[in-house]
Amino acid sequence: MGLFNDERLQGYPFPRGIGFTGLTRAKLNADIDYASFTCGGCHIGRLRHDDGSYQYLDGGVNQEFNVVGYRQRIVQTLDKVIGNETDPAKQEQRVIQAFLTALDQVAQAEPHYFYNNYQYQDRHFDAEYEAQQIALFKQQASQVIPAFMQHQYSVYQGWQIIADKFYPDIKQRITSGFAGMEDAIGFNAAAAYQNLQAKWYTKPFASLALPGAHGLTDIMVVWDQDSHDPRWNDDQTRLVNGGGQWTGHIPLPIYKNVAAQVTLGFDDIDVSVSAHAEKLLQFLPPPRYPFDVDIALANQGKILFAENCAVCHQPNNGKVYTQMGTDMGRAKVAGTLITVAAQSGFTSDNDCSVTTKVVMQGKEVFPCAEYRGVSLTGQSKQAMLPPRVHNGYNALPLPGLWAQAPYLHNGSVPTLYHLLMPNTRPDVFVKSQLTYDKKMVGFNWQVAKWDQQEGYLFDSQSSPALSHAGHDKDIVMDGKTFKLDWSDNPQGAWALIEYLKTL
Ligand code: HEC
Ligand code: HEC
Repeated sequence: MGLFNDERLQGYPFPRGIGFTGLTRAKLNADIDYASFTCGGCHIGRLRHDDGSYQYLDGGVNQEFNVVGYRQRIVQTLDKVIGNETDPAKQEQRVIQAFLTALDQVAQAEPHYFYNNYQYQDRHFDAEYEAQQIALFKQQASQVIPAFMQHQYSVYQGWQIIADKFYPDIKQRITSGFAGMEDAIGFNAAAAYQNLQAKWYTKPFASLALPGAHGLTDIMVVWDQDSHDPRWNDDQTRLVNGGGQWTGHIPLPIYKNVAAQVTLGFDDIDVSVSAHAEKLLQFLPPPRYPFDVDIALANQGKILFAENCAVCHQPNNGKVYTQMGTDMGRAKVAGTLITVAAQSGFTSDNDCSVTTKVVMQGKEVFPCAEYRGVSLTGQSKQAMLPPRVHNGYNALPLPGLWAQAPYLHNGSVPTLYHLLMPNTRPDVFVKSQLTYDKKMVGFNWQVAKWDQQEGYLFDSQSSPALSHAGHDKDIVMDGKTFKLDWSDNPQGAWALIEYLKTL
């Protein structure tokens, strides 16, 4: 489902993007290993060069990963095992039996099947460890497997409800997922909806948990977060000059990184992961454009950028733009109820309150107690801003722009050329290929040249959520015109593209 083998993880038993609790559990054999997606599953991408070698993009986008598709496959597998059995208790028995049979088969054939004899620091996941884990798993199977089934079905059924309500035109397509994309809030809201549905006394309120609109977006790049992290205003009561997510609605970096875990569907989050992520991402450098740049042309483009683009795409611009003409779904996902629930949930002791303590580099720290020297006591409303202040999109600074293709929040425009020449934008293109179009600047996208080995067809006309409209007409602000449509000036467009390669 698009989690790739990262050659830098020598001997690691899983692809990049899967972690397991044995790596950090205090007592090595005290419990079974739980596996989960890691941040790198979505936020480490790759590019394939002409010689076949891979360049890894740390903090970039894994365009290949289809997280919804993964969940669909699990449910399909469970369905297949259950077959025509209708009694829930017998369904569980069938699944437990199927797991245990498969487990015995692989364990007998290969004593390093699961852990590949991996060594990490002083931990050795050898045949003995593996045998102990299997024995422990067998003891717990009758609890763990039904809980797994219940969770997977619940999450998947919740997603069907979102699909019915918000993606009627592409229902089949959205339930099997789009690699490199996610409706992160919708997915999480669906899980909350399912939890409320499950109890008679919360059932009447369940629909309040649903989002306000569709919110399918490209996964974001996460490098150089400082370039749009906010600052305090003069009297230190409001956060200004920055914001996180496509809409800027989660301004504080620690809560962006808390939200990242919440939207992955974890009930309990690990704040030390959020605190480490905040630190790592603040100044994580973007990768440089790996191909040739014509510096003289780029210098011409730099002037055009300063005149037409920089007022919006400058660092730490916290403004939200409502007039771009791009699809507004993502901007309307988090309505009042989701916002209030996030404000109280994120800042609770269960997630990250001012008293939440974690250990970083051997020291105890309070990652949600202050931001840039100002206390967050009594500031829970800063954890997510109300809908009226994020009813559009941020104009993000554009570090590592070349590696962010396809462009716009819904990844609907394959290259920079198509962004600047709106009437050439293809309605249908190939998304998630790993080779690069150095002329138009974006990953290869041409349907006519596609060998169907990699990537998938993206039809921008199939749903409003995928529309490539917007950022296509010149904009007038304060009496000055900013040129967004370069159709009548291809020379200027090529100069701009050359400059954008250097960001
Ligand atoms: C399943 C894919 C997926 C995984 C796994 C994932 N993210 Fe994300 N991340 C996204 C998407 C999608 C967005 C954009 C959300 C939006 O605004 O709609 C995002 C946005 C972000 C942002 C905001 C970036 C910005 O410029 O404002 C940060 C920070 C982030 N993720 C950190 C993390 C961390 C830390 C983890 C690990 C705990 C993580 N993510 C795991 C998909 C993922
Ligand atoms: C009025 C403010 C404004 C101006 C001027 C402007 N942009 Fe944008 N730009 C935005 C906003 C807002 C978005 C996000 C739109 C969305 O994703 O729906 C955006 C998105 C983009 C993206 C996509 C980024 C990504 O991560 O996919 C690129 C590239 C871009 N703009 C380049 C330019 C260039 C080049 C110019 C000048 C020729 C320019 N912009 C002028 C506001 C502006």
